[in-house]
Amino acid sequence: AVNRTPLIAGNWKMNLDHLQAIAFVQKLAWNLADAKHDFGAVEAAVFPPFTDLRSVQTLVQADKLPIAYGAQDLSVHDSGAYTGEISGAFIAQLDAKYVIIGHSERRQYHGETDEIVAAKVQAAVKHGLVPVLCVGETAEDLEQYGPSAVPVGQLETAIAGLPADVDLVVAYEPVWAIGSGQAATPEQAGSVAKALRDVLVESLGAEGAAATRILYGGSVKAANIAAFMREPDVDGALVGGASLDIDEFSAIIRYQK
Ligand code: G3P
Repeated sequence: AVNRTPLIAGNWKMNLDHLQAIAFVQKLAWNLADAKHDFGAVEAAVFPPFTDLRSVQTLVQADKLPIAYGAQDLSVHDSGAYTGEISGAFIAQLDAKYVIIGHSERRQYHGETDEIVAAKVQAAVKHGLVPVLCVGETAEDLEQYGPSAVPVGQLETAIAGLPADVDLVVAYEPVWAIGSGQAATPEQAGSVAKALRDVLVESLGAEGAAATRILYGGSVKAANIAAFMREPDVDGALVGGASLDIDEFSAIIRYQK
């Protein structure tokens, strides 16, 4: 995490409608403002469903809240006859900073291949959105190929051809740790993060790799965040279930170094 601003990101998945989102973001901002210790060095972000984004934008901008927001997915297309799709242009127009790409739930339930993920990364960059690119192995992958082969391969394909100065976040989310209550150990997360950093050095060069934040995701909670953050190549967390509990998520953002 040397010289990189930690990012604590809450992926709400298909939870919280736009009214709940407004209440949640207000309370979160209140919690953070109320914090005894300075969380200023940490960037906090939420990833609500598409239908919440406009409400979150209005609230964040009106009250100048120190909370970034992004979408959970985007289309590879810019516009046109693609029923049900949402383009990066629309997301960018809502002043969203980030977009999650290639979450394992999209890969698993929506057939997203490494090639589709790569195209979505290109689409995000084209529209000025920062991709939060998710990679991670299943339990079977882990048994068959070991800890880093699959996430490394996914990363290589997804970032091929990106410029060295691309603004990018990588999230390592072992599928077996997502929503299971069984997080990776900090050592496991740290060592895969290091392998991913090596890929970034290869693809983007030393400077681009050093500027890119690598998050860990999978059963992160207030009780285990600090241990992950002590790993030199882990620069934050992508939080699912625990990001829906305002006090728990606030505590994760305000983790004790
Ligand atoms: O994207 C975050 C997520 O997949 C992790 O979920 O519930 O294990 O924190 P959870």
